[in-house]
Amino acid sequence: MSITTTAVTAPAERRSAGLEQRIQDAPGRFRVMTGDRPTGPLHLGHYFGTLHNRVRLQDLGVDVFVIIADYQVLTDRDVADRLGEYMEGMLLDYLAIGLDPARTTIFNHSAVPALNQLLLPFLSLVSVAELSRNPTVKDEIAHSRQSAVSGLMFTYPVHQAADILFCKGNLVPVGQDQLPHLEVTRTIARRFNERYGAVFPEPDALLSSAPLLLGTDGTKMSKSRGNSIALGATADETARLIRGARTDTDRRITYEPETRPEVSGLVLLAALCLDRDPYAVAEEIGDGGGAALKRTVTDAVNTLLAPVRARRAEYAQDTAYVRSVLRAGNERANAVAEETLAEVRAVMGGVL
Ligand code: TRP
Repeated sequence: MSITTTAVTAPAERRSAGLEQRIQDAPGRFRVMTGDRPTGPLHLGHYFGTLHNRVRLQDLGVDVFVIIADYQVLTDRDVADRLGEYMEGMLLDYLAIGLDPARTTIFNHSAVPALNQLLLPFLSLVSVAELSRNPTVKDEIAHSRQSAVSGLMFTYPVHQAADILFCKGNLVPVGQDQLPHLEVTRTIARRFNERYGAVFPEPDALLSSAPLLLGTDGTKMSKSRGNSIALGATADETARLIRGARTDTDRRITYEPETRPEVSGLVLLAALCLDRDPYAVAEEIGDGGGAALKRTVTDAVNTLLAPVRARRAEYAQDTAYVRSVLRAGNERANAVAEETLAEVRAVMGGVL
């Protein structure tokens, strides 16, 4: 299944293909910057969409920065509830999938003041009209749980530009929904450099080639929809979730994402876990029906995640270590952010 190509995303897709080659050739020239909002447990959609790719880039020798975007939690809700729990779970997931703190810097917004300070000069470089046109922000406003839209909702893409530019990240692995934000970052970098002098790179998007993973109800797998399989779930919880997944009445299992989204979503999940072609997986199950399909999916997911879950459980025993990973990441991020802020102050005339 390929990502739908539109006039907007086609250039980014073309650039991504060329980039992949340049990364292979010279990984040391790239600094990857990416991250997640701590709004719930990371799940298989994250794993195939982005987490897996971060480990791959790290292992290729790219310098990777990963932000736990705690301030971004406040874009569409009034309080960041269970923040500590979600952050700790996220750290466990990162470590369990193979992010290595010796090579990857893991940090969070609220621990890096100099990063946040970049928001001010950056806000001066974009217009209110530009902020209100952002299609991802519009979509989030439509689905927001707040009665009133906060100023942070409109400005968080600029804050995200600070996430990326404070460390001069030049490569941002993203899904399609994040492309408008990356455009904001590129615009800010370009305008800053034009106005004050060359400080920032114009980062490139590295579009994920992973197909969209559906949840157990046949809609997009999402933390908030109760349809996702968390990396940290137990094998039994996983089996239960998959047993309750929606299928249809046709016993013959096929891979037809357009006409049979629920069944095809399950086939795709098994295929991704097994690293096989979804058509071949469907063919093999044949007339076995929903029960056989669910057995295949459950086995595939639990087999793939068994070592991840075992490592996760080990790290969970050592919270002192897990916390020290974030502390060290924040220390490095602070050093980098202060250096960038000093440069920004200097070119802006030393007054800010
Ligand atoms: N907005 C991203 C999301 O919701 C998370 C994020 C915050 C991010 N800062 C970032 C992603 C910087 C890439 C780069 O998933």
